[in-house]
Amino acid sequence: MSILVTGGAGYIGSHTVVELLAAGYDVIIVDDFSNSSPEVLKRLATITGKEIPFYQGSILDKTFLDKVFKENKIEAVIHFAAFKAVGESVEKPLVYYHNNITGTITLLEVMTGNDVKNIVFSSSATVYGMTNVSPLTEDLPTSATNPYGYTKVMMEQILNDVAHANPDWSVTNLRYFNPIGAHESGMIGEAPNGIPNNLMPYITQVAVGKLKELNVFGDDYDTHDGTGVRDYIHVVDLAKGHVKAVKNNLANKGARVYNLGTGHGYSVLDLVKAFEKANGVTIPYVIKPRRAGDIATCYADPSKAKRELGWEAQKTLTDMVRDSWKWQSQNPNGYQL
Ligand code: UD1
Repeated sequence: MSILVTGGAGYIGSHTVVELLAAGYDVIIVDDFSNSSPEVLKRLATITGKEIPFYQGSILDKTFLDKVFKENKIEAVIHFAAFKAVGESVEKPLVYYHNNITGTITLLEVMTGNDVKNIVFSSSATVYGMTNVSPLTEDLPTSATNPYGYTKVMMEQILNDVAHANPDWSVTNLRYFNPIGAHESGMIGEAPNGIPNNLMPYITQVAVGKLKELNVFGDDYDTHDGTGVRDYIHVVDLAKGHVKAVKNNLANKGARVYNLGTGHGYSVLDLVKAFEKANGVTIPYVIKPRRAGDIATCYADPSKAKRELGWEAQKTLTDMVRDSWKWQSQNPNGYQL
């Protein structure tokens, strides 16, 4: 029996594949490489010492997906495959709704048709919206400020409704805070297309000389140094959270939701300083106006995942900034060789 990982060549998906194999699960990857590279599969084989069964295709293609299910014994799915750029989602809402929502519905239909009723879903702290106050708990109301965020809110809802309609389903929605870092080998990591939107890949590209300086979006927030505070979590800790969630899903039916964060908030400048100190590099930065849609502070209450999944983030901020830099410095152009 295998775990199917959609989007398994992506940033979080690839790290989760490593941890699933280390925990003894068999894994099958589906990916269309729309935001990832075939090179990831070679790196995964080197890291794990295993050739991982792989199917290239889109989760929007029902015939393709059905073939994957028919050719394998799949007991659960971890569903990462989705578009994730906030700004692009504002420009191309229909592309985002179609890919993320229709893709998820197609996957759920194929799962139902093949009697696989077990799914762990890649949600986001973005579903807490603008007004909830940190530390954020899973029972707070959800909302969004952009089409990307709405796709996460809607996909959680769809999964909850499916589990509600049929008690045979096991559904876990995992709300990630801000994943950074990379596998300790430095062989896999985050490789955004074009200029990064998120803070850590921007910092590493400044460090490696591809970008001139970091733009710090706002220094007048109500935080300890005026810059935005987030709950950065090492991607390997996050990946281990998925292994715990799958294990729990295989033992328990019904729907549930967990925050995957550390519970600690660090500011933009905290992250910059930690990066400089751990790696011995300087990150030049300029203060810019606030970015539209940003909030001052966002961090998790991670106690539910600890209580119910036995999962807790282990890695420190120093581990995160060191591993982000190891990945970027070893791979200045990401997976483009
Ligand atoms: C962003 C998305 C969120 C998504 C998450 C995925 C927005 C508004 N939110 O979260 O929906 O789920 O990525 O990883 O885009 N910052 C700078 N300079 C930069 C980049 C960021 O100062 O060049 C600051 C931001 O203002 C923020 C912090 O760094 O305070 C983190 O930003 P980012 O990495 O983009 O993550 P989020 O905005 O938290």
